[in-house]
Amino acid sequence: MHIRTILNLSIIGSAIGLSLPESSSTRRETLNEAAHNARVLIKEVKTGTMASVYPDTSDLAGRPFAMMEYHAPCYSNGSLALILMPISRSTQNIFQDPGHHIAYTVNMPTEGVRSPMSRGRVALMGNVTTLRDISSEEQTRLSKCYTKHHPDAQYWLPGTPDSPHFSLWARLDIDSIYYVGGFGDTHYIGSIPVDLYAKSEKKVQKGYESASTDNEEEGTLREVWEDDLDMDLNQIVF
Ligand SMILES: *[C@@H]1O[C@H](CO)[C@@H](O)[C@H](O)[C@H]1NC(C)=O
Ligand SMILES: *[C@@H]1O[C@H](CO)[C@@H](O)[C@H](O)[C@H]1NC(C)=O
Repeated sequence: MHIRTILNLSIIGSAIGLSLPESSSTRRETLNEAAHNARVLIKEVKTGTMASVYPDTSDLAGRPFAMMEYHAPCYSNGSLALILMPISRSTQNIFQDPGHHIAYTVNMPTEGVRSPMSRGRVALMGNVTTLRDISSEEQTRLSKCYTKHHPDAQYWLPGTPDSPHFSLWARLDIDSIYYVGGFGDTHYIGSIPVDLYAKSEKKVQKGYESASTDNEEEGTLREVWEDDLDMDLNQIVF
């Protein structure tokens, strides 16, 4: 079977409602669509992988650590609500990093997909702020939003009596985004400006022009990357 036919079949079979080009064989996912698709991903997919860095005091100082975590899309600008437990390695790494930086990646489900590499994924990079002094209204809002996405988390919400572990509300604010929509011939691959992501919750934005001056360089990098990808694709035996 021709590679493009296989790709189209896998796109038709997409389990979640991402905005894709109507005719994916003639048009590629745009940056504006990619920004909205990233917002759909963080809403539809409940878990992600959190990457942090071991602190200087550790035997593994400076080395990356990544593990599955929960997030909840409780902010209209795409910041993520998190529950941090000091018992977790990720939380310890965050607290000991002066910038409180993490990367958090979310990917489309891959079950039953012929080539999981054809599925969308996004890496959200930013810093984590613990929310110690929020109002009880805001705590209630976060609890409702978080348990809507993670009913099981009711047992360890911050402040829950008899919770097995001490926990804190926190928020990931995003300052850099890297998105891979799927294979590069039909999908956007590259960075997404945070301001575009922030306003793409409800729909695909029209006429957005990136203020970034790196566009030309990014374009070239993208072509190089896609050339590599095309070569690799031809090696894949389905
Ligand atoms: C999103 O909202 C949070 C909370 O108000 C704020 O701290 C963050 O800077 C905002 N991010 C963007 C990209 O606007
Ligand atoms: C996160 O980054 C912002 C912008 O760089 C900074 O103002 C803020 O203090 C940082 N927050 C933490 C908890 O480090």
